[in-house]
Amino acid sequence: MTDTWLNQVFCEDALAGLARIPDGSIDLILTDPPYNLGKDYGNASDQQTVDDYLLWTEQWIDAALPKLKPNGSLYIFLTWRFSPEIFVMLKKRMTMMNEIIWDRRVPSMGGSVRSYSSVHDTIGFFVRRKDYYFDLDAVRIPYDAETKKARSRSIFIGAKWLEVGYNPKDLWSVSRLHREHPERADHPTQKPLEIIERMVKASCPPDGVVLDLFMGSGTTAIAAKRTGRNYVGFELNPEYCAIINERLAMPEIPAPPPKKPKKPRNSVTS
Ligand SMILES: C[S@@+](CC[C@H](N)C(=O)[O-])C[C@H]1O[C@@H](n2cnc3c(N)ncnc32)[C@H](O)[C@@H]1O
Repeated sequence: MTDTWLNQVFCEDALAGLARIPDGSIDLILTDPPYNLGKDYGNASDQQTVDDYLLWTEQWIDAALPKLKPNGSLYIFLTWRFSPEIFVMLKKRMTMMNEIIWDRRVPSMGGSVRSYSSVHDTIGFFVRRKDYYFDLDAVRIPYDAETKKARSRSIFIGAKWLEVGYNPKDLWSVSRLHREHPERADHPTQKPLEIIERMVKASCPPDGVVLDLFMGSGTTAIAAKRTGRNYVGFELNPEYCAIINERLAMPEIPAPPPKKPKKPRNSVTS
């Protein structure tokens, strides 16, 4: 087999590197591009004019989409600043299934004084066809003992939803990674494994392939490895590439902290 591109993160520009990947070979594009908020990633990718940023976004979307299998999916991290424009771009090419709000659980201290403090990221979930891969059972959240006990009346006995857990819904409250968090690497916008692993488990079959054009600290590659999927991707900054290699070489990649099952409000079906 000559899949020299599989399970590799190439330290190069994603637009150039995509040529390495055969068309129709990717199950899931899961990507977290620069948001164009002026961050310093050791390159100018987050500091473009609005026109250049949107043009560049359209270019990489058009270069990446042919790599997807027909039943593949795409998740894209954004913020409110450019999600309206970029969602429209994607809606012309795919079907939008969800807007997921990632509540970063920012503590209520200080913040903006002339507007409301922004405490969430906006994630778009897109598919190509009706028969897209989606394994809800892999990402259900178990009910806590209290809820199960409260639903112990005979009408609930044998209720599948009570046993298998509930749909994570489209509002995900997961703390951002603090400096002292065991998962934390030296990257300014590293995403929590808990979020990325949920997307991989739901939208990439076991042994499938996940593509991330903007790997950063390599969270997508780590999540794919930990869940038995393959990965491929790119990162422009050589210092971040070194972090990715270190993280991938760790024998034990720290697991996300266990999540306490929450008691869902008014939820009876998935
Ligand atoms: C938002 S960060 C990704 C963070 C990542 N999800 C994580 O958990 O660490 C975006 C990354 O894209 C990289 N980048 C920007 N332009 C790029 C390009 N043309 N090709 C490849 N990587 C690029 C930046 O250097 C930055 O590390």
